[in-house]
Amino acid sequence: MRIINVKDYEEMSRKAADLIAAQIILNPKSVLGLATGSSPIGTYECLVELNRNGVIDFSHVTTINLDEYYGLDPTHDQSYRYFMNKHLFSRVNINMANTHLPDGKAKDIDAECRRYDDLIESVGGIDLQLLGIGHNGHIGFNEPSDEFIPGTHCVSLSESTINANSRFFKSRDEVPRKAITMGIKAIMQARKVLLIASGEDKKEILKKALFGPITPQVPASILQLHKDLTVITPLDI
Ligand code: F6R
Repeated sequence: MRIINVKDYEEMSRKAADLIAAQIILNPKSVLGLATGSSPIGTYECLVELNRNGVIDFSHVTTINLDEYYGLDPTHDQSYRYFMNKHLFSRVNINMANTHLPDGKAKDIDAECRRYDDLIESVGGIDLQLLGIGHNGHIGFNEPSDEFIPGTHCVSLSESTINANSRFFKSRDEVPRKAITMGIKAIMQARKVLLIASGEDKKEILKKALFGPITPQVPASILQLHKDLTVITPLDI
């Protein structure tokens, strides 16, 4: 594990974007695993700038997002498809057909989960997976549980996650209770993992995930076993 300590959120975002840019420069056909939430917004901003300045070209890049709320239409302003279009896809020269998220409106959830796993396999797995971390240690929406769940699955969001994400909705009641998330296997099989975390409220869980026992009760703790994990954080852990 490599930990890069930075001054603040801005420097974390710049460095994360630089590592993603390096990945795209080394392999223009990279498959990027992407996350939503507050953590990567600055990173996406920097990637947009690097694309505008001609430093990176997204035209051959494929993206696979970690998760999507169950029941939200892609046009809903809190859906993760909407988030990705807004913060990244609509602002760079990516081919939209190469951007993928689970379908939150899928009628047959099991079939949708299988489709997503097959898709990840068909593109040859993920070259670089960008991750944030939840207050309870979740990665993607792999919530604390008795076991690590390998494949894409539908998950009931924990109270902690519903509370944390209610800040984006008009009221807590509007937060979807379920989501479809990539499983631990695809994340662990990503050739590189890049974890970003900032804000004092993430300090304890980040410490626990990186240096505590490896347990499905802290899903991010499994990253300790990843061969190429880079953590960028302003937190003094
Ligand atoms: C979102 C995701 C989540 C977030 C986590 C942290 O696609 O996968 O695991 O990374 O909930 O969210 P923020 O960055 O908003 O604190």
